[in-house]
Order: sequence, then structure tokens, then C-alpha cells
Amino acid sequence: MAIKDRKLDHLRIALNKDVQFREKTTWLEKVLLEYRCLPEIDLSDICLETEFLGRKLKAPIVVSGMVGGIAEAKKINKDIAKACEALGLGFGIGSQRAMLEDPKLTETYYVRDVAPNIFLAGNVGVTQIKDYSTDQMEQALDSIGADALAIHLNAAQEAVQRDGTPNFKGCLKEIARVARGLSRPVYVKEVGHGISFSVAKELAKTNIKAIDVQGAGGTSWVAIEALRSKNGFGKVFWDFGIPTASSIAECRKAFKGPIIASGGIRSGLDAVRAFVLGADLIGIALPVLKAQQRAGSKGVEQYLKRIIEEMRIALLLIGAKTPKEALGRGRLSL
Ligand SMILES: Cc1cc2nc3c(=O)[nH]c(=O)nc-3n(C[C@H](O)[C@H](O)[C@H](O)COP(=O)(O)O)c2cc1C
Repeated sequence: MAIKDRKLDHLRIALNKDVQFREKTTWLEKVLLEYRCLPEIDLSDICLETEFLGRKLKAPIVVSGMVGGIAEAKKINKDIAKACEALGLGFGIGSQRAMLEDPKLTETYYVRDVAPNIFLAGNVGVTQIKDYSTDQMEQALDSIGADALAIHLNAAQEAVQRDGTPNFKGCLKEIARVARGLSRPVYVKEVGHGISFSVAKELAKTNIKAIDVQGAGGTSWVAIEALRSKNGFGKVFWDFGIPTASSIAECRKAFKGPIIASGGIRSGLDAVRAFVLGADLIGIALPVLKAQQRAGSKGVEQYLKRIIEEMRIALLLIGAKTPKEALGRGRLSL
């Protein structure tokens, strides 16, 4: 099946079906925050400004990569990027494989005309990087003005996808090659099934600069693939993966660099629970896409503003002036 058709399937299913985990949650609701009823902080003093891979963000949010390579992606990417520009947040585009195969599709990813200042991440799948030289990847990042490259790890998705490429042999070496060879920082993300302690430890031996956990409990990519398949193949793995809260804690133990908490982050309160466990930033995907579909760039801006407001309040309630100060002000209680 052509990449374009598959991408369109993914988009339609994500928007029209319930593709969230069913029984497993992110476990973020199991993070007991240490409520300080005497916070001794003025809400207006809470500072969310963060640096990520050399760029300043006004709040610690990087919207996770979703679309590119199909006609629909052009407006979606621009709307989301425009909202991120207005709020000073980071943004990732969807997999650049389609434009690496057909450079004419670059315009479906290009957002620099509406978002000249945002932190912008390019994206490519780990099973595909062996097909491209670092020069080819550098060019693909140049052509959209990206600041960094996110390599996505998606073993669970590829394994159940009927037309997937589930050959993950030598991937760690490939990640190391790209992270060493590119002039931009490279980080690694899952797509909603989480990254474990031992994988993070392996990744820490490479030159990657951050980990975006994309844990279980939010959008299930296995669900999307199972809904695509004619006979529902893959449904048994619907809830497969490491809950986001656990993935954050595991990656924090194994990796010293910045950690993005993601996969099922649905409120500013979730974000602060993630900061308590050691995350530095958060990522959100599907709810942002849905906000874009509802009301374009304004819809995305409104949605993300709400998350930021909730984040500020949750920080106040644990007596933390910054996301960093949240670390340890609560615990995961299973
Ligand atoms: C429609 C759609 C397309 C996606 N495409 C990509 C992609 O191309 N590359 C990638 O790294 N992740 C992709 N993702 C995964 C998201 O970046 C994210 O990891 C996942 O949706 C979990 O976050 P959420 O629970 O906030 O939705 C996609 C997600 C959605 C909903």
C-alpha cells in the first residue's frame, strides 16, 4: 500500500474511532501529589520557561509529531505550528518518509512561513533510517528548517501492521550513526507504547540528546492498526506497553538528558504529575489534532492555553515555582 494511503487511513481512524487504551491507563492518576495548602507562592510568579535542545520555550510543551505527506497535512501542520508560535511552544511534524521518497511533498510539512521561531522537530521511523544517508536526512531537515530530528521507535505498531516492516535488527547502531552524524540534535520517541529502563540505558550510550517516552495510556497505535486490518488482527495487543508514568520514572533512572513525558497527557495536572516523576517537558498529540479539526489554529491555541493554565495551578498547589521544583513533590503509589 502506498505511504500516502496508509497515512490517510491512520488520520481517518484516529479522528473517527476510539483509539485510546481501553483498560490500561497512564498511571499518572496514581501519582499522589504533596498538596501544600500553604504554598507561599503568588500564582503570577510561576515560571514555565524552559530550554529544550538549545531553544527557549515559554512553556514546557512540544506538540508530538503526527502528519505529513498527504494533502490534508498542510493545513493541519500550519494550524498547529501557528498556535505554537503564538504560545512559544515546540512542535514536531509527522514522519518525513513520504518527503524523503518524494521531495514534492515537502510543502505538506513546511511551517516556517507561519512559525519562524518555534522549536521544530523533524521525524523519521527507526526502521527507515538505514535507507538514508546522514546527508539525505540533513537535507530533509534543512528543507523544512527543523531544529532537531525525532526518531520514532514503533515496534508494537510495525509488528501488527499488515503492511509493516517489523525488522528491528541493527536499529540501535543506526540510531547511534544518525545521532553522531547529524549537525542537529537527535532525540528518540516511541509512538504510544513506552520506553523501558533497559532500552533507555542502551539509548544513553548513543549521542541522542533527549527521550520522549510516549508511554501507554493515551492513543494506542496498535489499536489504529487493528482497526485498519480487515479481520481485526492485532486487537490482542491493543493495551500493550509501559504506562507513561512508569516509562518516565524508568527513563529518568537510565538517562541524564531531558525527558519529555507523553502518551495520554490530557491536562496540566497530568503534566505536573509527570514533572514530579522527573520529566522536563510534556508532549501531546491526538487532542491537539482534534482541537485543530474543531477550530483550526485558534482551537489549538485555546486547548493548549488551558493546559498551561492548569499546569500553573497544579504547580502552585504543590508549592513549586517551576517544573524543575516539582521533582519529588509526590510519589507513584501503585
Ligand atoms: C494521526 C496521528 C499520526 C501520527 N503520526 C506519527 C508519526 O508520523 N511519527 C511519530 O513519531 N508519531 C506519530 N504519531 C504518534 C504521536 O506522536 C504520539 O506518540 C501518540 O499519539 C501518543 O500521544 P497521545 O496519547 O497524546 O495521542 C501519530 C499520532 C496520531 C494521532
